[in-house]
Amino acid sequence: MSDLFDNAINKYSKMIDTENGLVDRKIFTDPEIYIDELNLIFGRCWLYLAHESELPNKGDYLSVLMGATPVIVCRGADDKIYAHINSCTHRGNTLCRADRGNTKVFRCPYHAWTFDLTGKLVALPGEKQVYDCKIDKSKWGLIQVAQVSTYKGLIFATFDSEAPSLEDYLGDMRWGLDLLLEQGELVAVPGTMRWTMNTNWKFPSDNTGGDLYHLFSTHRSAFLVDHSDGDGVTAASEHLKFSDLCAIKGFTMLTAYGHGYNADYSSKKLDTDSVLSQWRKNPEVQKKLGSFRSSIHRANQNIFPNLFVATGSRELIIRNPISPTKTEFRKTLLIDSKADSEVQRMQVRNSNRHFGPSGLFEQDDGENWEQCTIGVSDIQAINQPLHYGMGVGNGKFIVDGGSPPRIESLINEHYQLWMYRAWSEFMSVSSWEQLKESHSKPQGVV
Ligand SMILES: [Fe+2]
Repeated sequence: MSDLFDNAINKYSKMIDTENGLVDRKIFTDPEIYIDELNLIFGRCWLYLAHESELPNKGDYLSVLMGATPVIVCRGADDKIYAHINSCTHRGNTLCRADRGNTKVFRCPYHAWTFDLTGKLVALPGEKQVYDCKIDKSKWGLIQVAQVSTYKGLIFATFDSEAPSLEDYLGDMRWGLDLLLEQGELVAVPGTMRWTMNTNWKFPSDNTGGDLYHLFSTHRSAFLVDHSDGDGVTAASEHLKFSDLCAIKGFTMLTAYGHGYNADYSSKKLDTDSVLSQWRKNPEVQKKLGSFRSSIHRANQNIFPNLFVATGSRELIIRNPISPTKTEFRKTLLIDSKADSEVQRMQVRNSNRHFGPSGLFEQDDGENWEQCTIGVSDIQAINQPLHYGMGVGNGKFIVDGGSPPRIESLINEHYQLWMYRAWSEFMSVSSWEQLKESHSKPQGVV
């Protein structure tokens, strides 16, 4: 690893110019940079795996990705949640091929090496008859993911044993996440929805944390056919003209380690139209969230590096980089287990029409992200940086105690630059210890 840092220091900070809002095109396609990202970002950050309600019983498991690494997440016989790299320790074969299920053991289809839910090697054929050397089974268990933790039902894990606790990693972002997670007794809709796009993972991530700018142009056709947002509200008239979009009031929040989002304030129309806003009338939820947070209509969030959280439509979409130019998306839709079944069905229908492979917005966005990835790959254009400078120098933080520090502006590129700043910080330091010391914090945050 140390050689890697000798080369990496300064290299990556030069590729992100936060003062002028410029981002080097090469970070989206260079195969060596992608390998560094797998080590230095996806090898260190807390990454979302699943919602706890997807693993209600002992032996329940899911096959997921952490970055590009296939991982089995399961509930053990002791009720704890485990995460193992999905690779047999004998020949490296992919052990578990199913998306989800329930089991007592994971048995490799090649030579039948067999592991229990904790990852321990418990059986292998011929142990007594044909192995001349003695097999120490305790040394040949599945490779464990270093830390697994949960936050209000969301399961995260990190490959880095030195990473701070999940609570510390999320920090002030928890204030934003709670806007979704405190709305009711949320559970995941069963089933797996995953798909791929020919995009670098960073284009969807930088969109997610705060890109209202694209709404009137990218999603114009969806609004013109009266498409309802994921929460069931049609807001076409407010989004078709750029000047109308600019009139919507909201804020941008940036928190440590590259997380952030933008959020718009609720309006009478949105409140009354959306069945998913009914939590606003629940005094217990109001009490937990407080009046300022309850005044937010919806927030599009990015938990750095790659988890999209849509609070309005209760969707979580993880974007995993399976190559520099190919990304796997996996969606978790949360519904209120106490809501009417018709409301739950409405939410599933709206969500499927909005984000996911059949979603109008997903297709609008995906077409652009794929074409951006093609564009930044062009050899003749490679030295022209991308422009991420809207609002540079205008991000005044408000610290009034009503929320973590926020910028009272909805349309800007503050989150994008914040994310790329965090990207360069993760890519330029040798350890979590150093990162804890040196990472950027928003003004007003001690
Ligand atoms: Fe979009």
